[in-house]
This record gives sequence, structure tokens and C-alpha cells, in this order.
Amino acid sequence: MNNKEEKNKNINISFGMEEIVSLCKRRGFVFQGSEIYGGLSGTYDYGPLGTLLKNNIKNSWLDKFVHGRDDMYLLDAAILMNQKVWQATGHVDHFSDPLVECKKCKSRFRFDTLDGVSVSGINFKIDPDATCPKCGALIVGNMDEPSLFNMMFSTKVGAVDDSAATTYLRPETAQGIFVNFKNVVDSMNPKMPFGIAQIGKAFRNEITPRDFIFRLRELEQMEIEYFVKPGDWERYFEYWKDEMTEWMEDIGLDMKKIHDEEIGEQDRAHYSSRTIDFEFEYPFGKKELYGLAYRGGYDLSKHAESSGQKLQYVDQSGESSDVFTPHVIEPSFGLDRTVLAILLSAYREDEMNDEKRVYLALSPKVSPYVCAVSPLLKNKEELVMKAREVFRNMKDAFGRVVWDDNGNIGKRYRRQDEIGTPFCITIDFESLEDGSVTLRDRDTGEQERVKIEDLEETINSKIK
Ligand code: GAP
Repeated sequence: MNNKEEKNKNINISFGMEEIVSLCKRRGFVFQGSEIYGGLSGTYDYGPLGTLLKNNIKNSWLDKFVHGRDDMYLLDAAILMNQKVWQATGHVDHFSDPLVECKKCKSRFRFDTLDGVSVSGINFKIDPDATCPKCGALIVGNMDEPSLFNMMFSTKVGAVDDSAATTYLRPETAQGIFVNFKNVVDSMNPKMPFGIAQIGKAFRNEITPRDFIFRLRELEQMEIEYFVKPGDWERYFEYWKDEMTEWMEDIGLDMKKIHDEEIGEQDRAHYSSRTIDFEFEYPFGKKELYGLAYRGGYDLSKHAESSGQKLQYVDQSGESSDVFTPHVIEPSFGLDRTVLAILLSAYREDEMNDEKRVYLALSPKVSPYVCAVSPLLKNKEELVMKAREVFRNMKDAFGRVVWDDNGNIGKRYRRQDEIGTPFCITIDFESLEDGSVTLRDRDTGEQERVKIEDLEETINSKIK
């Protein structure tokens, strides 16, 4: 196959979650959590390639929103926080979802996820024919009105088992930022406006975790709290909407499948007077990918009131100093949903050399590897030695490079296509004579001869 043109025919296919879930397991992207013990609902483990993909997404986010700017400060706050944090913000009283139980089969569901139920704020409607997804009993008559179920995981800190020892695994990374506002201001002296960014785990005891890594109990968030003068919020809200959109394009999300949805007053969080959800067309419906919220001065005011600390900003840029509680624009990104949306955006099936092929058209920015290096034959020492030399060069240049000498060259290409490796480099007998190698493009299957010394530049120019 090497050096021969591969024939590529695009075929139209429709695919769903099954194809993605199966590829993720087969190729080491995502596994069910605690799988050998039958799993733990709402948890997933990222395998070797999923971890690389996730880290590349995080790095791209950090590059754009932190390293690429001079007004953003990074934070890594503790997951366990004083219980007063969650009392002050209203999470202890209000961070809940509506829970219903079927009287017939005793199964419990999140009310607003049931087919035939529509909820807006505190109002809801139930279709008279709507049924329990487990046993088929009619909802009307078999399920009572929903009760509120708090989604925070509680735990005890230390050996004393009393209510003062109770705290919660954080349900959002945002609060770690708000409680450190004063620390960051005092230590870094930021100029207004500025932001604090954090990537980390959050935990929600979802009533019905589902749809693979879409609704999890243990999830990862990438959040920014951007502090502005109260009168400036509208301008910065639009600015952050554009910044978020730019990054989504940058990491290769299918922008045709992304829609921004203005959230009505009924459905907004109590602290927000404007929220936009970026929704993605998943195979199971159009649902939230990211959120952009104007949180006003809610969080800082609540923590100031509850802690007795001054959480204000002193602006000394004018003639006299101006003291105020900054308002906040919050771009919030779910990392697991990003992984899912990227895989769904990149999944392709076509025909190459009259064989069905599955490949991931991932952007080289996020693909687990930038390129794979192979000797044409793995039992020819001179080819292996040359290929090892090229492999080391490529590692120095791109870092994310994989050695692949398993099976014949056609099988290697298919395997690399399926995990989204944009380029394959093959060292053959001609390489030993003229120092050139085959460089193959994942999406088209096109192959060209490139001198070893030009490989880095050629790949870089294709990536750009
Ligand atoms: N600090 C604001 C906040 O947490 P959110 O809309 O509840 O807002 C932000 O969550 C993002 O976190 C969502 O847009 C989504 O990407 C992700 N997310 C929320 N709950 C999730 C879950 N159960 N599983 C996976 N991702 C989730």
C-alpha cells in the first residue's frame, strides 16, 4: 500500500452514540468507571488516548484564555471547602433537581427529563399519555408531584461525626474563585477588568446520569469569572460570547451544530439577569454544551455578608479612589461535554480502497498524536534504525508522536485514522537511499515523498 495512491470515496452515513461509545472503548479513549465491578453510574474513566485528547483541550483553553492574555489569573482551589461557602451561595437550600418516584416500579427519575413532561420555572405540564420509562405505567396517577433533591455530595471532614463536620464536594469550580477574590487582588494587584480562571473537578449527584459522558456525577469544568465595573457588563458579555465562539471554532467543533440560546427569566439561575446557553446537536437532542452568565455582584456580596470580609475592588486609576463590588461575567465550559462534542464533530465513515473506513477528522491541536512513525517492515533492522531516528526527531519537534509497527502498513493507517492521527510517516527502502519518507494525510489518504530534514516544516505548514 505504501507509495500507492489510496482511493477515497466519501459516503453519506448517519451515526449515533453507539458508534462513538464503541470507538471510545475499542481505542482507549473512554471506559466505564469501575468497569470490572459492574461500573458506577455517572462515572467514566479516560483511557490513554482520551487523557491525551482531554489534556490537549485543556492546553488549548489555557493558551487562549490564560497564556494569550495579560488580564487572566490562574487558580487551583481545593475541592473540599468550608460548609459556609455553600450556605452563603444558596447551594445548600437551592441546588436541587425535581425528583419523582413511580408508585408501581419504585424507580426514581429527574422529572424534567421524562418524555411528555415540560417544565418552565416552577410550572410544569404532563402529557396525559406520558408513561414511566421503566415499567410503562401512566405518569398521571402513578407519580406524585416532584420533590426537590439536593445534588451536592455531602461528606464529613475529620473524625468527629457531627453537623459542623459536614461539607460537600464542590458542585461547581466557580466558588473556589469567588472565595479567593481577595487573595488574588491582594497578591497580584490586577487592573480592572480582569479574570480568574480555573480547571478542575466538580461533583453532582445527578438523579439520572445518562448519555455517556454528557451527564456525569463526577465532571470537569473550565471556568472563568471575569470581573468588570458594574456599568460595563453588557459590553463584556458580548465580548465573551465572541471569545467563546472563536475557541469552539479553533478546537474543531462543528459550528453548524452549535446554537446559542437566550435563557428566559423563568429558567435562569436566581443570581443571573442574562444567560446564554451554547447548545450542541447531540444524537440524543439539542442540549447544553456551555453557559455564559452575567452573575452581577451576587457571589461576592453573599460571601462578603457571610464571612464579614470586604470583597471589593479599589480603583485608583482616577483622581480619587473608587470602591465597588465588581460584577461578573462567567464563561463556563464542561470539559467532558467538549470531549463528546469534539468526537461527534470529527467522526467520519467513508470508503478507501473499496473498504469501509472509520476515521476521526480531529484538529491536530487536540488529536492525541500529531503523527505516527513506522518502518515499512518491522523485521528489517536498517529500516527500524532509520525509523527510530525519524521518530526521535519528530518527538523533539511535536512531542505527541507515536511509534507504530503493529500489523501491515494498511492496518496501521486504518488504526491511526480511527484515533484521529493527522499524519503517518513511513520509512521504506527508498528512505535508506535518498533520505526521503512517505508522508500520508489522514483525511484524503494522499501520500507524498518528503526529505527527512523537511518533515517538521512540511507538517507545520499543513497544520497551519
Ligand atoms: N458555574 C456555573 C455552572 O456550573 P452549569 O451550567 O451548571 O453552570 C457549567 O455548568 C457547565 O458544566 C455546563 O455548561 C456543562 O458543560 C457542564 N456540566 C454541568 N453539569 C454536568 C454534568 N452533570 N455532567 C457533565 N457536564 C456537566
